[in-house]
Amino acid sequence: MALHVVILAAGQGTRMHSKRPKVLHHLGGKPMVMRVVETALTLKPAKIHLVVGKKADSIKQTLAQYPIHWVYQEEPLGTGHALLQCLPHLSSSDEVLVLYADTPLVQTETLQKLLETAASSSSQGLGLLLAKLPNPTGLGRILRDSDQQILAIVEEKDATSEQKKINEIFTGICCVPTRQLQQWLPQLSCDNAQKEYYLTDIIALAHKEHCPIFSLPAENFLEVQGVNNAYQLYELERVLQKRLTTQLMLSGVTLLDATRVDIRGQLQCGKDVIIDVNTIFEGNVVLGDDCVIEPHCILKNVTLGKNCRILASSVLEDCHIGDNCHIGPFARLRPGTKLAEHCKIGNFVEVKNTQFAQGSKANHLSYIGDATVGQQVNIGAGTITCNYDGAHKHPTHIEDGVFIGSATQLIAPISIGKNATIGAGSTLRKDVPAGELTYTEAKQKTVYGWKRPKK
Ligand code: UD1
Ligand code: CA
Repeated sequence: MALHVVILAAGQGTRMHSKRPKVLHHLGGKPMVMRVVETALTLKPAKIHLVVGKKADSIKQTLAQYPIHWVYQEEPLGTGHALLQCLPHLSSSDEVLVLYADTPLVQTETLQKLLETAASSSSQGLGLLLAKLPNPTGLGRILRDSDQQILAIVEEKDATSEQKKINEIFTGICCVPTRQLQQWLPQLSCDNAQKEYYLTDIIALAHKEHCPIFSLPAENFLEVQGVNNAYQLYELERVLQKRLTTQLMLSGVTLLDATRVDIRGQLQCGKDVIIDVNTIFEGNVVLGDDCVIEPHCILKNVTLGKNCRILASSVLEDCHIGDNCHIGPFARLRPGTKLAEHCKIGNFVEVKNTQFAQGSKANHLSYIGDATVGQQVNIGAGTITCNYDGAHKHPTHIEDGVFIGSATQLIAPISIGKNATIGAGSTLRKDVPAGELTYTEAKQKTVYGWKRPKK
C-alpha cells in the first residue's frame, strides 16, 4: 500500500481579506503551504498531490522546486469535491493522507502516529486527527454515540445549538484508503448550509457501512490549529516562535527575552551565544561560539565566525563574517560582504559586495562598495568609494597596510598600492602608488570682511 499525501489549497481564503492566496501568507518567514509540503516530504510518500484553484499560478511558482503533482479544482465547491479531483490519479491500493495547506504547524510525529493508528487493524479503516478546544467555534464537531463511537462530523454552520456545545473537533487531517474514497466521494451531496461537498460527510458513510473509524487526539491543539484570518496567523506565528526559541534555549543559547526574538528561517548557534532583544533572524543564519547580538539587529543569511559582536541596530544581509569581528552600532552590511578575522565595521558604515582581509577597519560614516580591502587597512571616517558612474559599477582595490585619511573619495575604478597613505579630504581619480603619501589639494581661502546675509 503506497502512501499518497493530498494537500488541499484551493479554498478562497476570503476571511484573510487579502489579494494573496491564503496559503502563501508567511509563517516563520515561509509560506504556510511550503511548511505543509516539507512536513509531507518527511513521510516519504509515493506522491504529493496539491489541489489548487483559481490562484494556482503564484502557488506553483512558490513551490517550483518541490516534487508536486498538481491537481486543479476549477471551483471551490468544498473539501470533498477537492479530494474528488484527485481520485483519477490514485489507485485502489493507495492510502491517502489528507492535509490542509492552512494547517501549517502539524508535526511529522503526529502524522506518523495517525497513520500507525489507522494501519493497526487488519481491515483498513479511517483515521481522524481530533482535538479538544477551549473554543471550538467555526470547526467541525465530532458526534459520538453513548458508547463513544464516532457517528459523524457536523460543520459549525449546520450544527444545532446543542451540537455547537461539543468541544471535540476535527482538525481536517485524516487518512483514508483510496478504495473507500472511490466509494464515498461520488456519494457526497451539497445539501447543507454552505452548499458545499463536505469531505467530513464521509464519516457518516463510514459509520453506516461499519467501516472502522480510528481517532487520534492531538496532544497539543495549537499544533493542529488552522489559519482562516490574520489574527489566527498571528497566533500561530507566536506558537511557532515559542517552539523555536525554546529549542534554542534548551540547546544553551541565552535569549534575554524569548518573546522579543523572531526566527524566520533557520538559526544555528554555537556555544555561549547571547542574543539581546528585538532581533530578527531571516533565512539561514549561523552564529559561532561566543557571539553576542546586541538589541535591534536584523541578520538575514549571515554566517558569523567565533566571538563576533554585532552592536545595536545593525542590519546584515548575505554576509560572511570571520572570527573576532565587531560590527556596528548602526552598521549596514549588504549582500556580498565578506570579512576575514579581526575586522571592525563601525557606526553608519555601509558595505556592499566587498571583501575585507584580516584586521582591517572602517570605523565611521563610510560607504565601501565593490571593493577589495587588504590586511590591516584603516579606512578613515567619511571615506566613500564612488563606484557608480550612472550606468556601470566599478571596482576599488585597496592593498595591505593602506591608511586612508578621513573624508576621502575614491573614484573607481581605482587601486591603492600597498602601505600607501592618503591625506584627509582627498578626491582620488588615478591609481595611487605603494608606500607613498598621496593627497589632493583644494586651496583654503579666507574672505575677509564677508558678512552673512540677513533675513
Ligand atoms: C474544515 C473542515 C472542518 C474542520 C476544519 C479544520 C470540512 C467541510 N470542514 O473546515 O470539519 O474542523 O477544516 O480546520 O472539510 N479547500 C479546497 N477546496 C475547497 C474548499 C476548501 O481545496 O473547495 C481547502 C482550503 O484551501 C483549506 C482546506 O481545504 O486549505 C480547508 O478549507 P476551509 O474552507 O478552511 O475549511 P473549514 O471551514 O476550516
Ligand atoms: Ca480552515
